[in-house]
Amino acid sequence: MEVVAKEPNKEEVHPEREETTEALMNEKRLFRPLPELVVNANINPNDYENAVRKGKTDLEGFWEEAAMELDWFRKWDKVLDRSDAPFYKWFVNGKTNIAYNALDRHVKTHRKNKVAIIFESEAGQRTRMTYYDLYRASNMVANALTSLGVRKGDRVAIYLPNIPHIAICMLACAKLGAVHSVVYAGFSAIALRDRVNDAQAKVIITVDGFHRNGKVIKLKEVVDEAMLDCPTVETVIVAKWADIPVDMSDGRYVWYEDLMEGESKSFETVSMDAEDPLFILYTSGTTGKPKGILHTHGGYQVGINRTLKWVFDIKETDIFWCSADPGWITGHSYIVYGPLIAGTTTVMYEGHPLYPTPDRMWQIIAKYGVTILYTAPTTIRMLMRFGAHYPKKYDLSTLRLLGSVGEPINPEAWIWYYENVGNHNCPIMDTWWQTETGMFMITPVPSNVLKPGSAYKPFPGVQADVVDAKGNPVPTGKGGFLVIKEPWPAMARNIYKEPERYKEVYWSKMPGVYLTGDMATKDEDGYFWLQGRSDDVLNIAGHRIGTAEIESALVSHKWVAEAACIGVPDKIRGEIAKIFVILKEGVEEDEDILVNELKAHIRKKMGPLVIVKSISFQDKLPKTRSGKIMRRVLKAEELGLKVGDLSTLDN
Ligand code: WT7
Repeated sequence: MEVVAKEPNKEEVHPEREETTEALMNEKRLFRPLPELVVNANINPNDYENAVRKGKTDLEGFWEEAAMELDWFRKWDKVLDRSDAPFYKWFVNGKTNIAYNALDRHVKTHRKNKVAIIFESEAGQRTRMTYYDLYRASNMVANALTSLGVRKGDRVAIYLPNIPHIAICMLACAKLGAVHSVVYAGFSAIALRDRVNDAQAKVIITVDGFHRNGKVIKLKEVVDEAMLDCPTVETVIVAKWADIPVDMSDGRYVWYEDLMEGESKSFETVSMDAEDPLFILYTSGTTGKPKGILHTHGGYQVGINRTLKWVFDIKETDIFWCSADPGWITGHSYIVYGPLIAGTTTVMYEGHPLYPTPDRMWQIIAKYGVTILYTAPTTIRMLMRFGAHYPKKYDLSTLRLLGSVGEPINPEAWIWYYENVGNHNCPIMDTWWQTETGMFMITPVPSNVLKPGSAYKPFPGVQADVVDAKGNPVPTGKGGFLVIKEPWPAMARNIYKEPERYKEVYWSKMPGVYLTGDMATKDEDGYFWLQGRSDDVLNIAGHRIGTAEIESALVSHKWVAEAACIGVPDKIRGEIAKIFVILKEGVEEDEDILVNELKAHIRKKMGPLVIVKSISFQDKLPKTRSGKIMRRVLKAEELGLKVGDLSTLDN
């Protein structure tokens, strides 16, 4: 793992962001919900107001009520323990297992043979798995993992695409108390290796290959490369999926199908302490080393269940499609665990949204009668480009709610989504949250009045505010740091093995509050307008990538002496990377060769997530006297904006 010890830049509020937010807030169109939606909603306007009030006056009571909706093997003694803050504990001494709530309890009811997962492959084949199917499949994997020596607390890396196996394996880990660490299948061998080694995983679960955009991605080969340096891994389980030839000669590799042969379909789900770890999910920060965000069994399930039930108004009859990938927190919370706990039907699609034609998503909605679609602004903007005649060709009338996540949604995309996908009938739930928050934090519910571009207000039981650098609330209409003032049950409990870093990054700059890293503005009605990150983290197509990680990948190349990376606006992806490089002495390659080689190098190091607009070669970079690169200066020059205070600039 490469560690670049860098202090995060203490950026001030970007003046250009305030200007654009002001323009957005002038938008006077209000979107009121349809009466029938409000009448039948899981939370009606009256109860919503009461819940907001209760969340403020009786935080613990509010979340305790939410916890009662789930099954526990033993009830908690105390809802919230603040004694070791910021290491808060929820549902102290409660015993539970999230997989019990997602599967076991359903198979004792009429949901036993209800469809849990509708899966569509990129080639268009459908597979339906009932709750009972999923229950038995995950029991078998839990048994197989146990026979491989995996025990409660051990880490299992899951490197799988968006196919049912990923849900089965996550649930299997949860059942036996192993901690899963899902690594998004778009990450490179090096990124996989770093994550596997940081978590000291005993097992990796993967596939031979999968389909994306008409091509076969040979995932097993990526694992082979990572495995050259993964000393803790004893077994690699390979599921057959793309049916391509793979080399299984290494003694550590076993076929998934062979392991399942004759395996028992029953497994006794392990009783876990509410605070026992459920998973680690790595996310980028302001240094080159990703943070292993740690979530637990108890509070996490309470948070995602309550938010999904109220925000997406989930009912048993819904067909819920969250088009993210299970490799991100969105997929953990709202493809796998949330919908299954709610006993609804969740949709998974293996492939690319434009494959083979730009109507693939609308086709899937029509084919399965999807009732709720939850997707990202970058996807909406991409589909918008192909025109409204694509969604118009399909019967999308089953849709009743829409959702957005990953970055601020621009009002143009909001309106297009509302008119052409929702046919003016479906409110758009713009949900602000993070890997660290585990659940929706700033979000409307269907009965709220919406303003396109605003994520509404904090969810009941969530205390959020916008403050200045000293932690004082900023006046209405002024930008500031978004903070969360009270703990919430689905909050991250730690950074894996780095408690000091956890305290430092989130809890130390402003004592007593959780610092989100985002900037926001509140308008006169109390609506929150998110304005992007305050730190050196890019948001490329909804994917969070630290500039330090990109820079550290670059300087590992033999030609590169120094590198700086900034985000520049992009019409479809929101933001993409622009890179400045100082070459080492004596490197005299042609510029084309340099650029291609460095782009390929980033891809190799990090995977295809980092989209590079351009690489330019410099003799020097703007730095502070203490030697920190001032990305803000590069950005202002690039975008033709005011540079701001230059008193700390050295050269
Ligand atoms: C960052 C978290 C949580 C799932 C997806 C990404 C940005 C997320 C919104 C939204 C404005 C948003 C923030 C946040 N973000 N949702 N609705 N409006 N910005 O999870 O990778 O942990 O990234 O995504 O900047 O901090 P993540």
